[in-house]
Amino acid sequence: MAMVCLTDFEEYAKEHLSKATWDYYAAGADECCTRDDNLLAFKRIRLRPRILRDVSVCDTRTTVQGTEISFPVGIAPTAFHCLAWHEGEVATARATEAVNTCYITSTYSTCSVEEIVAAAPGGYRWFQLYVYRNRKVSEQIVHRVEALGYQALVLTVDVPYTGKRRNDIRNQFKLPPHLRVKNFDGVFEENAGPEEYGVPANTLDPSISWKDIYWLQSLTRLPIIIKGILTKEDAELAVEHGVQGIIVSNHGGRQLDGDPATIDALSEIVDTVQGRIEVYLDGGIRTGSDVLKALALGAKCVFIGRPAVWGLAYKGEEGVREVLQILNDEFRLCMALAGECRRPVGVITAAPFQRHPVPWF
Ligand code: FNR
Repeated sequence: MAMVCLTDFEEYAKEHLSKATWDYYAAGADECCTRDDNLLAFKRIRLRPRILRDVSVCDTRTTVQGTEISFPVGIAPTAFHCLAWHEGEVATARATEAVNTCYITSTYSTCSVEEIVAAAPGGYRWFQLYVYRNRKVSEQIVHRVEALGYQALVLTVDVPYTGKRRNDIRNQFKLPPHLRVKNFDGVFEENAGPEEYGVPANTLDPSISWKDIYWLQSLTRLPIIIKGILTKEDAELAVEHGVQGIIVSNHGGRQLDGDPATIDALSEIVDTVQGRIEVYLDGGIRTGSDVLKALALGAKCVFIGRPAVWGLAYKGEEGVREVLQILNDEFRLCMALAGECRRPVGVITAAPFQRHPVPWF
């Protein structure tokens, strides 16, 4: 089967994964309005293409946190890659190393961070972190990934509690017995009570607040990137607290159903941050033109969640590489057709585009 676009991988994954696994990956919270709006909002934006601008050469390289990547798309942290492909995160790590882009490893990976680094020693990686009631758990993992050469910490702040995902409840979703969250081997007590998504329930600390950013900064010298900001007020607080980046994210619509689509939230955050730190986006990126729209509205780089997992389900490392390659090809073509090839990707701005998302009726 020739894979032409990212939704081809989605169809393949839906057909080949077990129902419970498919439902878990696809899930949004409650009625899935936010999950679906993440995609629809991109489709409501139109580009203003410029012509006769010599698009014979297109360079998609950019930098994130000072490191060059091949194009402005990285892999968002998603849990449990071994559900999609037997090698799990090791395959994802190899694919991103081959393509030379950024892979944000989820805390809830089914390979350990040591296995991931060993599989792709030259890869550029950030580590996604949660704050646990037992702070020692977070502390230990921060020191562990720093020693392993991870280049930044991505603190996910939109999960004080897990969103209500109806199909996971119906399916009584849990990891099959042969898989586990390997980063936590020996960390939580055996028989620590009921599990939620592979770890003991109620381990995340819902009391975390801005002062904990200072606590995290005291533990590490790595840049800290906050994932899950959707308002200008929180973007300003993030800058004031000295973090190095923001990922505009609603967790793929899996947390608060009613959150705005991320592309709709991006502009107010970019306007507030005024270039003081880098702003990234995830949620609903499915085509090269989505990437260009996010960049035009001020994102430095975007990240894909579900499409990477679909790639894994298709063909492991090769599947993830294909997903990234297709997005890269589409993005490059889109840049050319929009007349946007003369400048480095990093300085694509809204100028030649609709400044604000324009509803299309
Ligand atoms: C996620 N996401 C997520 N985020 C995070 O910070 N830590 C995690 O462990 C996970 N796990 C996870 C699992 C699955 C199956 C999905 C779909 C998502 C959220 C993820 O990083 C990202 O915000 C969204 O997936 C982006 O939306 P798209 O690209 O899936 O539309």
